[in-house]
Amino acid sequence: MGERWTPKTWRNLPIQQVPQYPDAAALEAVESQLASFPPLVFAGEARKLKKSLAKVAAGEAFLLQGGDCAESFDEHSADNIRDFFRVFLQMALVLTFAGGSPVVKVGRIAGQFAKPRSSPTETLDGVSLPSYRGDIVNGLTFTDEARLPDPRRQLEAYRQSAATLNLLRAFAQGGYANLENSHRWMLGFVKDSPQSSRYADCAERMTEALNFMRAIGINPETHQEVRTTDFYTSHEALLLGYEEALTRVDSTSGDWYATSGHMLWVGDRTRQPDHAHIEYARGIRNPIGLKCGPSMTGEGLIRLIDALNPEDEAGRLTLICRFGADKVGDHLPNLIRTVEREGRNVVWACDPMHGNTIAAGRYKTRPFERVMQEIGSFFDIHRSEGSVAGGLHLEMTGKDVTECTGGARALTADDLQDRYHTYCDPRLNAEQALEVAFLTAELVKREQAEIERPRLDAAE
Ligand code: PEP
Ligand code: CO
Repeated sequence: MGERWTPKTWRNLPIQQVPQYPDAAALEAVESQLASFPPLVFAGEARKLKKSLAKVAAGEAFLLQGGDCAESFDEHSADNIRDFFRVFLQMALVLTFAGGSPVVKVGRIAGQFAKPRSSPTETLDGVSLPSYRGDIVNGLTFTDEARLPDPRRQLEAYRQSAATLNLLRAFAQGGYANLENSHRWMLGFVKDSPQSSRYADCAERMTEALNFMRAIGINPETHQEVRTTDFYTSHEALLLGYEEALTRVDSTSGDWYATSGHMLWVGDRTRQPDHAHIEYARGIRNPIGLKCGPSMTGEGLIRLIDALNPEDEAGRLTLICRFGADKVGDHLPNLIRTVEREGRNVVWACDPMHGNTIAAGRYKTRPFERVMQEIGSFFDIHRSEGSVAGGLHLEMTGKDVTECTGGARALTADDLQDRYHTYCDPRLNAEQALEVAFLTAELVKREQAEIERPRLDAAE
C-alpha cells in the first residue's frame, strides 16, 4: 500500500467474497464491454457530495442514507422507485425541519446489487448450492442454474442502474420533489399513523413554516431551492471487476473516480487493510464509506483511515457504525476517542440495521425497538464524547412490507409472513422508516441545540 495505484492494482492482492465464475473469458468480455459504456455519475457530482459531507462532519448538516438491502431485477418498476423516493424525501423534510440544518440525501439505490455472504454455500434439505450474492452475480432461486454466477448479469445491473438513476434525476430536478409535495405526503402519513398525536406538533409547525414562506413569496414556482433537491446514489463496492470497468479519469482534475455511483462503501467483511477492497477504494476520489462492526479496533481503524484518507480530506470518509443495540456502548466510545486523539476528520453515521438482525421462526427480522435503541445510544455517546452524530444509514423501502417487527403498528413475528419480500436483509417499511425519522429528529434537534454557532434562537 502507498504504492502506485491504478483501477486494477486490487487484482494483485488477496480478496474476500469473490464469486466463482465458470467462464473467465465470458467475464472478461463483459468487463471490457462495461469499460466502453458511459459513466453513470460524474466526478463533479461526487465532489459536490464530498463538500456536503464535509459539512456533516462539522455538524452543519445531517446525512440520511438509505434504501434496499439488495436491489433486484424483478422489482424494477417506476412505482417502486417513486414510493421509495417519496418516503425518503419525507424523512429528509422531517429531519431538516427538526435540525434546522440541511439533510444530505444519499440513496442505497441505482447500483446496490452485490451482497457479501457469511457462507459461500447454502444448504436446504440436504442440498448445498452456492449462496445468492445479489442479482448482479446470480439468481435467488434455489437451483443449480440460478445460483451459477453469470457475468451477463453485470450488464443488466448497469442498465437497471442507468434507468433508475434517470428517473431519480427527473424526480429530484423536475419539480416532483418540491417541498410542498413532501409536506403534503408527510401530513398524510401523520393522519393515518397510530402514533399521530406524537407527530402532530412537529407536523403543525412545519405547516406553519411553509405557510409563512408562501406568504412572503418563497414557493416552488418562484424558488428553485423549494422546487428541486440534490439526491445522490451509493452502494457497496463489492464486485470489483464491475467497479474497475466503471472507474474513469475525470477530465477536469485528472483524478480517478468510480462512476457507478456517487458514494461507495466498503463492507464489514471486506475491509482487511492489506486486501483488495481497501486497495480499490483508496485510489478513487469519491466520498467513501467504511462499515465498522464489533471487530473493528481503534488501531485497525486508524490504519484504515491512513489508507483511505491519508490527506485527512473533510467529507472523504464516512464511518458507518453497525454494532448492535447491545454492543454499541462497548465499541463506539473507544473508536471515537481514538479518532479524536489522532485528530482525523470523519463523518460518523449510525447503521442500526446490521447489528440487530435476529431469527424469528424461518424469517430474519429486526425489532424496531432495537433499531431505535441503537440510534439513541449513538447520539448519547456522541453527546458525551463531544463528537458529532452525523447521520443515519438505513435499510428501508417505500412499500408496506412486513419484514421488521414493532413500530407504531406493532408488527409481530406472526405478521412477518404476510409481505416478507426482501431479497436479502429485512427492511423498515414506509411507516416504520418515517417513524425512525420523526424519532431521530428529536435527537438531531437536541444535538443541534448544543452546537455553538450563530443561530437565530441563540441571539441575545
Ligand atoms: C449491508 O450494508 O447490506 C451490509 C452487508 O453491511 P455490513 O457490511 O455492515 O454487514
Ligand atoms: Co443488508
